[in-house]
Amino acid sequence: MSSTDSAQQAGKQQRISTVELGSNGPVVGVQGLGCMGMSWAYGPTDADEARATLERALELGVTLYDTADAYGAGENERFLAPFVKAHRDEIVLATKFAIGVDPSAPYKRVINNDPAYIRTCIDASLQRLGVDSVDLYYMHRRDPKAPIEETVGAMAELVAAGKVKHLGLSEVTADELRAAQAVHPIAAVQSEWSLFSRDIERSVVPTAAELGVGLVPYSPLGRGFLTGAFVSADKELSEDDFRRQQPRFTGDNAAANAALLEPVRRIADARGASLGQIALAWAQHRAEAFGLAVVPIPGTRKRSRIEENTAATHIALTEEELALLEPIAAQVSGDRYADMAFTSAGRE
Ligand SMILES: NC(=O)c1ccc[n+]([C@@H]2O[C@H](COP(=O)([O-])OP(=O)(O)OC[C@H]3O[C@@H](n4cnc5c(N)ncnc54)[C@H](OP(=O)(O)O)[C@@H]3O)[C@@H](O)[C@H]2O)c1
Repeated sequence: MSSTDSAQQAGKQQRISTVELGSNGPVVGVQGLGCMGMSWAYGPTDADEARATLERALELGVTLYDTADAYGAGENERFLAPFVKAHRDEIVLATKFAIGVDPSAPYKRVINNDPAYIRTCIDASLQRLGVDSVDLYYMHRRDPKAPIEETVGAMAELVAAGKVKHLGLSEVTADELRAAQAVHPIAAVQSEWSLFSRDIERSVVPTAAELGVGLVPYSPLGRGFLTGAFVSADKELSEDDFRRQQPRFTGDNAAANAALLEPVRRIADARGASLGQIALAWAQHRAEAFGLAVVPIPGTRKRSRIEENTAATHIALTEEELALLEPIAAQVSGDRYADMAFTSAGRE
């Protein structure tokens, strides 16, 4: 297909470009789609619009679709199954294991990295997704009691068995990444990375660049906060919205953090862009800054927003704009999670 044809297919909007995610990793569109919110965590969903968003994303060149067994205790994988069936060879399907969720207490999590548990998890994910294999299988969280070599060894067995094509790790430290890579090639690390969360730049990102591992920034829009769509989670979001539990989006922190968006707004206004597009263009720029593949996975359930978000891949921020954005992260008030034990200690 010529580039003119593919632009027409995308409905006038330019398709996004592609990149190899890690050495010998899968080739994917430079922006992926986080599917979690379609079934879980961010309040009520319009399922028809979410399905249409998956299709629109594909038209625009998005190929990496991100889910996890924990999202709605399997519900998000089941939701994706018909889309996956219709487009199996066009997409790179990523899912995760390690977080057990009790459906009656959805935000209470149990982390498990045991090999036997992993084998159960992959079979259950494959069944829910309706596939024989997934393209990228992540350890969602690290259980510090389990030796990482053993966990990655069990994941490598899934590759040998043909159930998984590439391996990934979420929220690991640089040392854990190194130890894992010695057991089996790791295609990608998925960790929170945005204008508000830059701690991984200290050692995880440089280590990934050195080892030829790609980076998949999750929550690159700061769970929506960086778009200016809401300021105070406890006042504006629904009772069951996970963000009401996150310290940086509530109480005095929320107001203080909203004020930090001023330079983002100034750049957006000057360019006729949205705040979210500037946040995503910044995330994309990290690839150049650190010399590695970076594929952010903003989550949305709306066609208009996938168009807006993918359009951000065509924005190249100037040195002056990057300098205005530089001081933001250091000033953010409040932790990422209410229970910081849920992140890996020393992940920076
Ligand atoms: N590995 C991990 O531990 C981990 C943790 C969290 C998330 N993730 C993955 O990362 C993905 C993305 O992270 P996330 O969903 O937490 O956060 P995010 O991508 O930073 O933000 C998602 C939020 O922003 C809103 N949004 C998206 N585009 C927008 C736009 N253009 N304008 C205004 N609002 C917009 C979405 O609302 P609508 O949906 O209503 O558009 C949603 O509320 C998830 O879907 C999940 O797959 C992984």
